[in-house]
Amino acid sequence: MIGKLNHVAIVVPDLAAATALYRNTLGAKVSEPHDLPEHGVTTVFVELDNTKIEFLHPFGDKSPIAKFLESNPTGGVHHVCFEVADIMAARDKLKADGARVIGDGNPKIGAHGKPVLFLHPKDFLGTLTEIEQA
Ligand code: CO
Repeated sequence: MIGKLNHVAIVVPDLAAATALYRNTLGAKVSEPHDLPEHGVTTVFVELDNTKIEFLHPFGDKSPIAKFLESNPTGGVHHVCFEVADIMAARDKLKADGARVIGDGNPKIGAHGKPVLFLHPKDFLGTLTEIEQA
């Protein structure tokens, strides 16, 4: 069902430091920061040949990742995102198999303007898992 690994999201306490680490130390292509107020995050994209790394940093005082950063003050892997061809079909199969979809079960428009769903980490090896309709 799942296709490509679309991205791995890493919550970081300092976007400039994270950018410098990946750009200068790892020699990766790193974007400028993008504020996404409707998602409560600022993102930076690291473009790799086969996938992306996304840095997430809280934006505003009601960020959904504020708690994560509190528990992981040096940052950490937040979620992985896989592409699916049909998000509704994927959701129905996942639910039929007992996986919990976070929220009301309806896809939301994600950070890339495409429909996404998040799956409960307790059902996916302790890892918050996002699916995105490619
Ligand atoms: Co994501």
